[in-house]
Amino acid sequence: MATVCRTLAVNAAFLLEIKEDNRQLKDVLRKCKQLLRNPCTQRSDVRQWTDSLSELRDQLAMHFALEDAYGYFEDAVMQAPRLCQRAESLHQQHIGLFLDICRIADSADRLLHHKHAVQQIRHLSDAFFAFVEQFETHEHLEDALIMAAFEDDIGVGD
Ligand SMILES: [Fe+2]
Repeated sequence: MATVCRTLAVNAAFLLEIKEDNRQLKDVLRKCKQLLRNPCTQRSDVRQWTDSLSELRDQLAMHFALEDAYGYFEDAVMQAPRLCQRAESLHQQHIGLFLDICRIADSADRLLHHKHAVQQIRHLSDAFFAFVEQFETHEHLEDALIMAAFEDDIGVGD
């Protein structure tokens, strides 16, 4: 019986280039971490958090779109089947990660109009750092996938 299996391959060179070139994303992520580590004491801090989180959301939208367009592709003849599941799983994480940062940025936006914004923002910080942990794990796993794809290309381990 014939089975049809969709395979997802990784374009390691493009994926690596997207990651290395994304200076703006790294900068805004660093800025958000610095801001959200500090306690929010006044309403102007909330505005700064909100603007930075919106910027991070926009950078991530671009980052995931580039990775989806150039870093992953469907391949009828998968050259490295053992990488297929890892690629599929990491590729699918993009939408969940993006929805998470959208929710966090939206929550920050709503807090701007909240009477007790400064008190409420602690929850936002917790959600943000939980997101950062997931995103950084995702990035590390993609780095490992890129290395594995390169190793397959040059025949390491055969
Ligand atoms: Fe990714």
